[in-house]
Amino acid sequence: MCGIVGYVGPQSALDVVVAGLKRLEYRGYDSAGVAVLSDGSLAAAKRAGKLVNLEKALVERPLPSGTTGIGHTRWATHGGPTDANAHPHLDNAGRVAVVHNGIIENFAVLRAELEERGHALDSETDTEVVAHLLAEEFSATADLAEAMRLVCRRLEGAFTLVAVHADDPDVVVGARRNSPLVVGVGEGEAFLASDVAAFIAHTRSAIELGQDQVVELRRDGVTVTGFDGRPADVRSYHVDWDASAAEKGGYDYFMLKEIAEQPKAVADTLLGRIDAAGSLTLDEVRISTAELREVDKVVIVACGTAFHAGLIAKYAIEHWTRIPCEVELASEFRYRDPILDPRTLVIAISQSGETMDTLMALRHAREQGSKVLAICNTNGSTIPRESDAVLYTHAGPEVAVASTKAFLTQLVACYLVALYLGQVRGTKWGDEIRAVIRDLSKISQEVERVLKTMEPVRELARSLATKNTVLFLGRHVGYPVALEGALKLKELAYMHAEGFAAGELKHGPIALIEKDLPVVVVVPSPRGRSVLHDKIVSNIQEIRARGARTIVIAEEGDEAVAPYADHLIRIPATPTLLQPLVATVPLQVFACELATARGNEVDQPRNLAKSVTVE
Ligand code: F6R
Repeated sequence: MCGIVGYVGPQSALDVVVAGLKRLEYRGYDSAGVAVLSDGSLAAAKRAGKLVNLEKALVERPLPSGTTGIGHTRWATHGGPTDANAHPHLDNAGRVAVVHNGIIENFAVLRAELEERGHALDSETDTEVVAHLLAEEFSATADLAEAMRLVCRRLEGAFTLVAVHADDPDVVVGARRNSPLVVGVGEGEAFLASDVAAFIAHTRSAIELGQDQVVELRRDGVTVTGFDGRPADVRSYHVDWDASAAEKGGYDYFMLKEIAEQPKAVADTLLGRIDAAGSLTLDEVRISTAELREVDKVVIVACGTAFHAGLIAKYAIEHWTRIPCEVELASEFRYRDPILDPRTLVIAISQSGETMDTLMALRHAREQGSKVLAICNTNGSTIPRESDAVLYTHAGPEVAVASTKAFLTQLVACYLVALYLGQVRGTKWGDEIRAVIRDLSKISQEVERVLKTMEPVRELARSLATKNTVLFLGRHVGYPVALEGALKLKELAYMHAEGFAAGELKHGPIALIEKDLPVVVVVPSPRGRSVLHDKIVSNIQEIRARGARTIVIAEEGDEAVAPYADHLIRIPATPTLLQPLVATVPLQVFACELATARGNEVDQPRNLAKSVTVE
């Protein structure tokens, strides 16, 4: 939610910052802006709409060149997506510029105080107060980092701030509380960004900032302190992917590339999980096996697609470990006073590791004494840092707003966690675990095979471009798959799409069925619990009898469904619990193609942002 870039070094700051913003546009695309320090003055430009509008403005009215600068791409919270509300925000003298990600909750009080002192604020944002407060503190201290520390101590809420001051020309200062900010360290240059993707073309050497820290960036190094001014401990790390991973690589959209990367992402997430003794390992565990043996309940918290991964994980966890498992939307979790104690294991699933709802849920769980295990795709992000254990998914950077490869790898990670719990608690034997791992190892090839057969799915999607509604049905693990199929279609094609448990249809939703309504049905394996399979075949007949156009996703060799399918999408036979790994893929392709056919922006759907860092 909002992308931020800062740069100081020998290169043109504008070029570095704009290139960085391009990589961060997935975080928000309501407006964009930049500020550059040049010959003792500050020049800024900003435009509502996508980054391309700003780029055009910069061609029409170029900014003077400079080697220190900041930039921002916005997902609007306070104030609409207008030029005036776009960042950077400047003080009245035009000497300080600031960009912000997050929400400053006490901005109204601060604004009133500033206005009383004679400041004129002209945007509707919560951010503008910071520019004015920084200007005041800088005139007292002549030190931008100190001014930032003083200001941050007065702010409430979640914020990442990055600022420059015309009177301190070779310095960029950043601050972080509850929102992401990473430092990149190059040769004689330094970077600040919401995500390493912004500077990966320049350096793979990064520093993770902690909570309530201020960083001062100079060409010859960085200094990190707490908001209290004390030197802070930081963790440096090497980014293990390169710039090409954050490029489209010849695909029209990031989403297409990321769908195609799924076989590798699934394989990478499995890599190195078995140690020499044949046991499963987690990346970083600060929960002892004794504590895991004591666990009497698992609670999964997550949002959106990650929540759907959690719903599927429940089936595996309960089946393989016999521990009761609840799955909860992170945004609802802490408000209903959930029953948690030290014997509850909370699993937080998040691609970005920055989703505020999930972060707040995990903090609540830890306050109640529960241990938290994170499943996350972003190294060094807040959620794994604040958890007791982490299992990283190795999907590589996911740029398209709609999650695809992260989902599949979250599922793999969930299966691994379930097996790990089974291993620690002795509810699964070593050979049983290895048999599941062998099945999981084959999934990468199966996904590859599914991807090769997607042309009929694309054709079908194009033929449905003028429809208003698509329903999705599933049973057992196919039910969350149906929910995920519907979510993908809503966010990408802007169509009314609903996922239902197929057995629930007769309790109400069947009234929605009308002639030619497309209904996608995810059919469980006939080799699993055959009763489930038989019941869904009946469900397909029920909706077909009422005129539905049935789009059936069924395992190869499942002939029982064929007579009732207007369109049959085949997936490879897999063990029942693992079926979502192959069944979801056609639904991703379906949504992507429908969005394209309807002329929508696939990678940047309207109103959305990839990383949701507000509650
Ligand atoms: C949907 C989608 C979102 C995210 C959700 C959680 O395609 O991408 O629903 O899954 O916002 O995000 P993370 O996993 O970063 O916590």
